[in-house]
Amino acid sequence: MSLHENFGSGNADANPDLKPNDMVVTPRHIAKQMIDYYAKWYDLSERVLLDPCRGDGAFYDQYPDYCTKDWCEITEGRDFFDWPYKVDWIITNPPYSIFPQFLEKCFEVADNVALLIPLAKLVSSLKRINMVMDYGNIESIRIIGASKCGFPFGFPAAAIHMKRGTPGTTYIKMWEWENEEE
Ligand SMILES: C[S@@+](CC[C@H](N)C(=O)[O-])C[C@H]1O[C@@H](n2cnc3c(N)ncnc32)[C@H](O)[C@@H]1O
Repeated sequence: MSLHENFGSGNADANPDLKPNDMVVTPRHIAKQMIDYYAKWYDLSERVLLDPCRGDGAFYDQYPDYCTKDWCEITEGRDFFDWPYKVDWIITNPPYSIFPQFLEKCFEVADNVALLIPLAKLVSSLKRINMVMDYGNIESIRIIGASKCGFPFGFPAAAIHMKRGTPGTTYIKMWEWENEEE
């Protein structure tokens, strides 16, 4: 079910200044495992999920059917920075060249923000760390080799879940590969 059918003009001329790393597509099985992890540990039923940059839909298509879901994608005329509504969750792989601004917008609209990103992206500036701490808690960091995500660089990546509210415990662990051939 879509929440806001009329959001976005569908302007195919939207011309973002995208960098190559902004266009990295997440392997669908990685996106699925990431979503399943949060669906296992958090109650996503009747929650509103937004993919703010759905690309080919690796995350959006696999959000649980029982959620209300919606999407943005700049190349399809839906600029996330114009998204005006509050949502419960964002789960995605964001564009990296504008990561600080993108993260700030995620914090503005969502109570839970789960991003698949190069791990260093989160901690490479004190300003960003303070922004995360002001937002709430880092609930979990699940580390994965960049090549497993199809990322065209060697830095470790991680699924990082941040939750609005009071800072507390953070779980840091390696990605689990149960029932997977990897
Ligand atoms: C790293 S790719 C990931 C795509 C998809 N989330 C996935 O995991 O396969 C980032 C996506 O963000 C989109 N994007 C960049 N800036 C955007 C913006 N301002 N609003 C919406 N989408 C944007 C890009 O077009 C690209 O599809």
